[in-house]
Amino acid sequence: MKAVCWQGTNKVTVETVPDPKLINPRDAIVKITSTAICGSDLHLYNGFNPTMKQGDILGHEFMGEIVELGSAFKNGNIHDKGKALAVGDRVVVPFTISCGGCFFCNRDLWSLCDNSNPNAWMVEKVMGHSPSGLFGYSHLTGGYAGGQAEYARVPFADVGLFKIPSDLTDEQVLFLTDIFPTGYMAAENCNIQPGDTVAIWGCGPVGQFAIRSAFLLGAERVIAIDRVPERLQMAKEGGAEILNFEEIEVGEALKEMTGGRGPDSAMDAVGMEAHGMGLEGFYDKAMQAVRMETDRPNVLRQAIVACRKGGTVSVPGVYTGFVDKMPMGAFMNKGLTMKTGQTHVHRYLQPLTERIQKGEIDPSFLVTHTLPIEQAPHGYEIFKHKKESCIKIVLKP
Ligand SMILES: NC(=O)c1ccc[n+]([C@@H]2O[C@H](COP(=O)([O-])OP(=O)(O)OC[C@H]3O[C@@H](n4cnc5c(N)ncnc54)[C@H](O)[C@@H]3O)[C@@H](O)[C@H]2O)c1
Ligand SMILES: [Zn+2]
Ligand SMILES: [Zn+2]
Repeated sequence: MKAVCWQGTNKVTVETVPDPKLINPRDAIVKITSTAICGSDLHLYNGFNPTMKQGDILGHEFMGEIVELGSAFKNGNIHDKGKALAVGDRVVVPFTISCGGCFFCNRDLWSLCDNSNPNAWMVEKVMGHSPSGLFGYSHLTGGYAGGQAEYARVPFADVGLFKIPSDLTDEQVLFLTDIFPTGYMAAENCNIQPGDTVAIWGCGPVGQFAIRSAFLLGAERVIAIDRVPERLQMAKEGGAEILNFEEIEVGEALKEMTGGRGPDSAMDAVGMEAHGMGLEGFYDKAMQAVRMETDRPNVLRQAIVACRKGGTVSVPGVYTGFVDKMPMGAFMNKGLTMKTGQTHVHRYLQPLTERIQKGEIDPSFLVTHTLPIEQAPHGYEIFKHKKESCIKIVLKP
């Protein structure tokens, strides 16, 4: 089959590789009809994850049709949801791999599953404990082959695979695999109360869903921050007021727009590769810290400083290691709460599908490019450099 393979920093190629095979009884093989490139893939493309190996298959946002099911589906050794799956079903695949039976899965904390990362020991050395395995996201999270390919093996398919109503198109449901639940959970993590103002840094795909989710959850105002004109424009179309961080001092502007109080919640939908501007300069000078960081927390710093006292900082943006010059004094003295995590995708599949069916949101608004999978290398380039007004690419295998 054809698959998008990581070859090193800034290099992906489309290779012919062996088709995936069933390995475990609860596996399924999915023939992929649509798959997307995510901002998280850019962290790998940009060489920020030391456990990528040449030839690894990328991709964690994919959907398609079940073509094979493991033996557990045949001998009845599967729970109710699994029993409902059959070859030929059209499904979306959560990017997080979850067993469905551990302490964390039982508490609805799917991205923290204890049984899906065979390389948990690597993460434990750095983080104490490991999150779940993830598709196509380095050996630190399991070394699973990803879904920017013609086929993928899905472990714990009985728990992960989610059947899609036939009246919805691929483009309407594909983002249930990651970025729609991610934006939604990030908005939930803002603890939105009626009348609230939410500030969101980053108008990439995650930021776009976060903006719309914040309104779905009752925010009165959303202020969105980026510097890419077409992303800011899309944020505006989603109902947000917009700020270009290259043109103004974001912290000051947020204060002014909220009568001096600051936004009720502040979201970092950018993560470890943020561009440093404004307040960062101040912090770099003022904070005493040894420069020993793997991630660039420019937005995280701004969010903490801008958030109103007693407010909530929500962090869907990905961090992998250590940051310094964290304004811990502001965080503590302002009595802030921080909520974060890889998304518990499984938790949101049913409710967000219902929102799509009711017409409360149509996720296909995000797609700016549809490319055959052979053009994935071009896709990574235009997505990374925001060329051709690229906001979200769907690849067709
Ligand atoms: N928590 C999760 O489960 C989860 C899931 C998916 C993605 N993510 C993460 O969410 C983040 C966003 O993903 P995406 O797909 O939207 O990525 P993206 O790279 O397309 O978007 C990031 C946006 O941030 C903007 N930006 C950069 N520096 C900024 C700054 N200083 N202030 C304001 N905006 C700034 C960029 O211009 C860009 O538009 C990434 O870190 C990604 O890894 C997390
Ligand atoms: Zn993603
Ligand atoms: Zn589990």
